[in-house]
Amino acid sequence: MRVLFVCLGNICRSPLAEGVFRAEAARAGLSEGLRVDSAGTGNWHAGEAPDARAVAVAARHGINISGQRARQISRGDFHAFDLILGMDHRNVQDLTRIAAFDNKATIDLFLGHATGETRDVADPYYGDEADFEAAYRDIKAGATALATVLAGKTSRDSG
Ligand code: 4NP
Repeated sequence: MRVLFVCLGNICRSPLAEGVFRAEAARAGLSEGLRVDSAGTGNWHAGEAPDARAVAVAARHGINISGQRARQISRGDFHAFDLILGMDHRNVQDLTRIAAFDNKATIDLFLGHATGETRDVADPYYGDEADFEAAYRDIKAGATALATVLAGKTSRDSG
C-alpha cells in the first residue's frame, strides 16, 4: 500500500499527516510494504523543511517531522501511489485536475476517506499555535482511523 498525503504547500498539514500516519501505521503493524510520502499542489516551498510551527506541534506529540523536505506533486505520483489524500476540498479538486485522465490512484479527501467525516483539515498557515493544534487533532484522528482501516484490509487480503 502506497499512500501520499497532499496539501497546498507541503510544509504544514501534509508533512504532519505523513509523520503521524507513519507512527500510527507502525502501531497498527502496517509498516511492511507500506510507502508513505507527502507533497504539495504548489511549488512555492519546494526543498524547504516543514514550517517551524508544524515541527513544534508534532514534537509536542512525540513525532519528529524535521527531516522532511517539501516537494510538488508530479504526474508520476498518480502511478506511484495507490491512495492520494488531499487535506481539503481544494486540494482534492486540484489533484483531480492535475491527474486528468492519467491516473491509477484513488484520489480522495483525507478525513472523508479515513473517518467518513467529509470535512477539511483547515489550513493553519495564516493562523496561530491553536490552529496548528487543531490541524494536529484532525490529522491524528484521521491517521488513526486510516491505519485501522488499512490494517483490516491488509489482513483480509493476506488471509
Ligand atoms: P499547507 O499550508 O498547505 O498545510 O502546507 C500552507 C503552506 C504555505 C502556503 C499556504 C498554505 N502558502 O501560501 O505559501
